[in-house]
Amino acid sequence: MEKMWAGRTDGHTSAVADDFNSSIRFDSRMYRQDITGSMEHAMMLSAVGIITPLESEAIVDGLQGILDDIDSGALPIDPRAEDIHMFVEAELTRRIGDVGKKLHTSRSRNDQVALDIRLYLRDEIREIRRMVRELIDAVCTQAEATQGFIMPGYTHLQRAQPIVMAHHLLAYAMMLRRDDARLSDTAARMNYSPLGSAALAGTTYPIDRDLVARQLGFAGITENSLDGVSDRDFCAELLSALSILMMHLSRFSEEIILWSSWEFRFVQLDDAFTTGSSIMPQKKNSDMAELVRGKTGRVYGDLMALLTTLKGLPLAYNKDMQEDKESVFDAVDTVKMCLSVFAPMVRTMKFHKEEMYAAAQKGFLNATDLADYLTKKGMPFRSAYKLVGALVSKCIASGKTLESLTMEEYRAESQLFGEDVYGEISLETCVAKRISKGSTGPQSVGAQIRSVREFLQNEEV
Ligand code: ARG
Repeated sequence: MEKMWAGRTDGHTSAVADDFNSSIRFDSRMYRQDITGSMEHAMMLSAVGIITPLESEAIVDGLQGILDDIDSGALPIDPRAEDIHMFVEAELTRRIGDVGKKLHTSRSRNDQVALDIRLYLRDEIREIRRMVRELIDAVCTQAEATQGFIMPGYTHLQRAQPIVMAHHLLAYAMMLRRDDARLSDTAARMNYSPLGSAALAGTTYPIDRDLVARQLGFAGITENSLDGVSDRDFCAELLSALSILMMHLSRFSEEIILWSSWEFRFVQLDDAFTTGSSIMPQKKNSDMAELVRGKTGRVYGDLMALLTTLKGLPLAYNKDMQEDKESVFDAVDTVKMCLSVFAPMVRTMKFHKEEMYAAAQKGFLNATDLADYLTKKGMPFRSAYKLVGALVSKCIASGKTLESLTMEEYRAESQLFGEDVYGEISLETCVAKRISKGSTGPQSVGAQIRSVREFLQNEEV
């Protein structure tokens, strides 16, 4: 096929080379951004007198027609085209004749593609942030409902201290809130227009880069043309932010999977978000959560692929950079898919209050509070720690719990023990007495919920 770029070469490439070189399969999804950028470029060219207003109008109308026709399906994207930029330009010239050939004045595909990806990802980030907020809302709603649900808190996956489910859920709300902030930072840092960097060195035409940047809603222009065409930091940054987001979803998934097992029975997933087994009739599997956990590896892979592609590239543009898109698009699609199933899955989850409470009763979760009890009565903490450790061993040997020990058994260890000990080490007291900021105590949990609610209401996306 003869190429628009036939210049030094005769432009006749082999079919396999064409196929290998082409990016239309994956970059056609940026057609809207490509056309919008081109329209602004044409208007700027006429504003500074490089083309006439009539020429600009013909180009803009032609581009609008192409956009409408791709949108409606009337213009199918030719899979044999080299990329979306070439496809749109060729179609424009086919429609409006030679004036279409003026569009590419003072521009290169290098700055064009750098512009398109920024515009495209800017929109995608907005959508992903909206979905993250939707999930935060689901998590917070569940937290509001589970403020009185006592459960074991774990370290090393061993029962450690009693907490409430709301507190556990709010930890995820905090993670997701940071994810939102990371996405917002990424969007802000990439919001500079590279258009006008041209191939690598800028251009001899008196273009107005700031005008195009303003029209396209950028905060400004990139300041170095070499950097403008070869920077893909924003792709790496987005993939890092998405990897961390997926890591959070994956940890949450892992807990949901554990909690749904017969071993835990803390939660019950809604039937709409579970699957059965083709052989075992009793099964209810948490496939959605497992898939999210699985797809996390895939998004990490996208990040590593991009970083590896970029690491040896000399300035400025190299064709290797065409590989940026598949990684970024795959990660964006994957994250959106995961979020779209995760939020309703969390929203419809049922928590088993009794089972969680029963689990919290086993495992001596109140041992720290018993040591604190003695400390508050004057025993040094280390001595109290030792004494309680010995009591726990005795309980294990005799199949008892700390709260079922008799006053005589307590007094045998220390005269500091009084009748008030039983009230002090009940699970309810252990939770209610957590008064430090950020703790699982009711005041702190209430404050966390208010803070998350405020964030959801105030922050602009
Ligand atoms: N399809 C190319 C890409 O995605 C567009 C830029 C091509 N530039 C070039 N000098 N061949 O990177």
